[in-house]
Amino acid sequence: MPVSRGQEVRMSEQHFARPRALHVRLMLLAVLLLMVFVVAVSSLLGGSASINSLKFNTDSPEGRGKFLVKGKSAAPSQSQFPSFFSSEDAAPPPRTKTMKKTIVEKVDVESGPYHDWQHFALDFQEMMRNFKVYVYPDAFANQSSSGSSQFASIFLPHPDPFHPRLGNYFSEHMFKLALLGSSITTPHPEEAHLFFLPFSINLLRNDPRVHSEASISEFVTRYITRSRRQFPFWNASAGADHFYVYCHSVGREVASGLRDLLNNAIQVTCSSSYFQRYYVTHKDVGFPQVWPRLHEEALTPPDARHKLVYFSGRIQNSRIRQDLITLWENDSDMDVFSGNPPYPYEEGFRRSKYCLHVKGYEVNTARVSDAIHYGCVPVIISNHYELPFANVLDWSKFSVIINHGEISLTKQRLLSIPRRVYLNMFHNLRRVRRHFLWHETPRGFDSFHMTAYQLWLRRSIHRLRLPH
Ligand SMILES: *[C@@H]1O[C@H](CO)[C@@H](O)[C@H](O)[C@H]1NC(C)=O
Ligand SMILES: *[C@@H]1O[C@H](CO)[C@@H](O)[C@H](O)[C@H]1NC(C)=O
Ligand SMILES: *[C@@H]1O[C@H](CO)[C@@H](O)[C@H](O)[C@H]1NC(C)=O
Repeated sequence: MPVSRGQEVRMSEQHFARPRALHVRLMLLAVLLLMVFVVAVSSLLGGSASINSLKFNTDSPEGRGKFLVKGKSAAPSQSQFPSFFSSEDAAPPPRTKTMKKTIVEKVDVESGPYHDWQHFALDFQEMMRNFKVYVYPDAFANQSSSGSSQFASIFLPHPDPFHPRLGNYFSEHMFKLALLGSSITTPHPEEAHLFFLPFSINLLRNDPRVHSEASISEFVTRYITRSRRQFPFWNASAGADHFYVYCHSVGREVASGLRDLLNNAIQVTCSSSYFQRYYVTHKDVGFPQVWPRLHEEALTPPDARHKLVYFSGRIQNSRIRQDLITLWENDSDMDVFSGNPPYPYEEGFRRSKYCLHVKGYEVNTARVSDAIHYGCVPVIISNHYELPFANVLDWSKFSVIINHGEISLTKQRLLSIPRRVYLNMFHNLRRVRRHFLWHETPRGFDSFHMTAYQLWLRRSIHRLRLPH
């Protein structure tokens, strides 16, 4: 059949019309894809910063800012474009790397050394604004009539808490010094939340006129009997808003002579064992035993720590320490020594990754804060030790806690800790160091303020109005 020209043209038009439509559609698709790509990339580059900063801005003022800076330059959270970046080659290799880094950093932030930093920091601020402690006047004996007492020094702040002989009891003396130097004390008992009994268990123990547990107990009982006659404060709460502070385990027995001191008053002690009948968890407070050191130590980095474990100490009085020595005395990874090490004591903390705190006569020693001071991750083998500030600090994030019954697994357990987890603990350890430092004039989140915070949590006692 002959085809007319007109038909031919139409045909050719038809013929060309089909591919032209396909072309347009393809171009539209390409433009669409390009737009999607541009949107995706711009969100990647621009959007992620605000997402991360939103997350991290809600964080604390205490040094997490550095994560904010890192978060800004890094890739977005992986949940943003799941369909576009589901396959490996969708994102270029370097980006994948930063992405992984961000995820790790997020984990680090979330597993910091605090249970809930924000909650704690807010309440801490409130404490700094409002907390008031009344100190019985014996702590300022010069200014009162009791200044002439032959026992005046028992109540006064120690003139030289850095004296080497006081080493193990440094915290007790520093608490008193810091309290007297802090804005928390008030001369107005009516506005006080708590009352401080300023006798020193350490000085009583060292005083040949007193010394024995029975005499110390009698001394304290007499002191409280006198104070409750002279002032109305004790009777108003039966001692429940009173506290005393010591680092010598003898202090625990002292309360046994006086029911209200034992049951009601708050003891702040280094020997905070919830296995002990004279320590009442939640009423009483554990605070750190700290060895006096004038300067902060520059930390040996993790990679320069070539020994797995360090321990040195007396093994008499302690089955667990004896077991420890028997198990690893000749192990070259484990620097465990009965008595002194063949090098300076401090050196062990510098060269080791993990430093053991093993229960001796009491649950506590200065080894935990020694380890923290030198950046050696503490391994705590001391059952029922109520670790200092455990309601604020998450000890599992910067220490390893091992049951006495599993001491033979210690090496195995430490070796099984991944390097990433160890580095995280090391990092957290640096962040908690400031909580284990004492200053004569208290500062920031130091040992004094951390201990005061524990007392702050135990305020709000109902008091009787006493007949007069
Ligand atoms: C207390 O007395 C001592 C010695 O008499 C003196 O050096 C010190 O400054 C006095 N302290 C106060 C607070 O008055
Ligand atoms: C507190 O109570 C004790 C024992 O009942 C009593 O001897 C003392 O005088 C009371 N103190 C005051 C200030 O009333
Ligand atoms: C460690 O080595 C010393 C000296 O060789 C030896 O006397 C001791 O019994 C060894 N200790 C253990 C637990 O094997």
